[in-house]
Amino acid sequence: MEPIIPILLVAALKKPVMAEAGWAMKQAPVTVTASYSPRSAGGKHDFFSEGDYWWPNPVSADSPYIQRDGETNPENFTAHREAMIRLSRVVGALGSAYRLTGDTKYVRQAMKHVRAWFVDTATMMNPSLVYAQAIKGRATGRGIGIIDTIQLMEVVEGLETMGSAIDQDLLARVKAWFSRYLVWLTTHPYGRDEMNAANNHGTCWVMQVAAFAKFTGNVQLMEFCRQRYENVLLPNQMAADGSFPQELRRTKPYGYSLFNLDAMATICQLLSGPGNDLWHYQTADGKSIGKGIGFLYPYIADKTKWPYKHDVMHWDEWPVAQPALAFGGAAFGNARWLDVWARLDHQPSGNEVIRNLPVRHPLIWFGKPPVDIAKVTADAEAQTKVLLDSISARPKEKGVFSPRTIENGQLKLVASKDWTSGFFPGELWMLYRLTAKKEWEDLARRYTAPMEVEKTNGGTHDMGFKIFCSYGTGWRLTREATYRDVIIESARTLSTRFNPKIGCIRSWDHHKELWTYPVIIDNMMNLELLFEATRMTGDSSFYRIAVTHANTTMKNHFRTDYSSYHVVDYDTVTGQVRRKMTWQGANDSSAWARGQAWGLYAYTMCYRYTKDRRYLSQAEHIAAFILSHLPADKVPYWDYNAPGGASEPKDASAAAIVASGLYELSGYSVRGAGYRSVADAMLVSLTDHYRAPVGGNKGFILLHSTGGKPSNSEVDVPLNYADYYYLEALLRSQNK
Ligand code: GLY
Repeated sequence: MEPIIPILLVAALKKPVMAEAGWAMKQAPVTVTASYSPRSAGGKHDFFSEGDYWWPNPVSADSPYIQRDGETNPENFTAHREAMIRLSRVVGALGSAYRLTGDTKYVRQAMKHVRAWFVDTATMMNPSLVYAQAIKGRATGRGIGIIDTIQLMEVVEGLETMGSAIDQDLLARVKAWFSRYLVWLTTHPYGRDEMNAANNHGTCWVMQVAAFAKFTGNVQLMEFCRQRYENVLLPNQMAADGSFPQELRRTKPYGYSLFNLDAMATICQLLSGPGNDLWHYQTADGKSIGKGIGFLYPYIADKTKWPYKHDVMHWDEWPVAQPALAFGGAAFGNARWLDVWARLDHQPSGNEVIRNLPVRHPLIWFGKPPVDIAKVTADAEAQTKVLLDSISARPKEKGVFSPRTIENGQLKLVASKDWTSGFFPGELWMLYRLTAKKEWEDLARRYTAPMEVEKTNGGTHDMGFKIFCSYGTGWRLTREATYRDVIIESARTLSTRFNPKIGCIRSWDHHKELWTYPVIIDNMMNLELLFEATRMTGDSSFYRIAVTHANTTMKNHFRTDYSSYHVVDYDTVTGQVRRKMTWQGANDSSAWARGQAWGLYAYTMCYRYTKDRRYLSQAEHIAAFILSHLPADKVPYWDYNAPGGASEPKDASAAAIVASGLYELSGYSVRGAGYRSVADAMLVSLTDHYRAPVGGNKGFILLHSTGGKPSNSEVDVPLNYADYYYLEALLRSQNK
């Protein structure tokens, strides 16, 4: 799911969470059927609440209520809201305690409450919100009332945390309830009204729809919410300085600004995933969640500095432990935000605050990593230092700098023109991403710089591997204009290898005696550079080349079982296929393991950029082929049709590429949960059985990859790209 939980979060929450869980263990369920307001136009199972800021008209007690913005009417009916907040606290606390202890007594207690609210016909709530925030004499309910169910988000997150410990039949029924509620939220006029609200209400609609869509596996709706965040919420609600003018002009500008920021940060937490990093998303004019947190942070750290109006009510109750600082601190590795968050009130008591705080239990908003990230990261750092020492120990040779493998017992370094030269710089960037340590950033910059000369090398298709894994990985983290320029120029160079008659980029210029216009499945990986160049420049010619190449490859490279040929040779005169064959596979009709991995990864990536469902379907079919051919330990032999069975060498690089690709695919596909669990299993297998002990392997992380078995080259050795995709899978396992 989401990024790794910072240790600080766990430390700060342990005590309050366990105390609240103790309280939650003693609570009996209370649902909407336990109380009823005579002013409700709904039935016993309908949630009812009243508009906060509406008051009797002093002119006559029977007239419709009148508005006093920011001032809550204490006579309102609030029992249903209180019951829902209580449910949210109960499940949030129990989920958090389960996360900390693994004790299933917390799960059993949560199930009682959940059953009463969503399953038992005597006590359940209807999955709609027709009677929320009614106003006496004016409305029996309003779209604005939908904000009341943000409380249910912690219920679904708590249940997700409990995972397989919950009764699966009950879980399916609860999911069915939320699926029905989502239909109502997205189709009823009140739902549409709330979706279109220009302020925090519009934000909270997206936030809760995203949470429920994720819970029910509705990937289309998750994508809709991502688009809404990128194209509507952020551009329309945020000012250039990171503030929210719609909230600043309210009578409670401080509380509402915090509330809206928390809701936006929660959207980023929920919806960020591999290829969908909302944390780092910014509009063309520079608005981003980081800017929003940056704007409010000083006033959270020190409220006396707040230069705007003070809130008419509840001014003293804010700030509390705002989740924007916890989630943002984790996502950006910002220790100052986390420190301030740790010092704030973690168990706020003010009614208004409780109602308006969208997330009270941050622990359950982080996914459980399949491997011990801290340990694996520390080992990877130690190994990379060994590798750097191994590099220093090699005799100096001009232009040769990037570690590729071990050959004849020696570390093999390559020059930038080698197809694998970009992986090591990319790994250094990923270590920086994992640790936020400047030393890794400095090294990443140092090893990325010599790659620049490749931007004009039009002699091969490997531009994406070389430039995107180095400069592209760096650019994602730094957004540096100079990196961007290198990427754009590289895309221009790569485009020169495209032949419109054939509809493909030419892969190789070597071995002209064997083929005329060879296109290899690996070439699909280089399209990411082109898609990104179109995003950077708005020049759609790169995009068109990428989709044409992907479409031609989809037509000619795949067999009916969705395994792929390695090489397809084209006729440059007719544009037709001349021959389908292999180069690194067991034979022409075999399924070379890494080739299948490239296809899976690349069609998933093509879907990310195009949202063309044919690419998604292609990736799902390739995944089905791979999943049905993996050996028990989930790491393939070098070719799925290799004749020697268990005596064949493995290819850990193929496993790492597949794991990384499956993590991304899991965010797009209705089969996402299944893909994620296979990716987890692959990551665990690689971590537990394919890693070299720290200090060995000349500093490479993984053992047992195979480069080109037929030519007896790089068989059962470490390979830099295995390590690169392993680290990427590790990051993606946390949705980074
Ligand atoms: N792209 C070359 C390989 O996968 O071996």
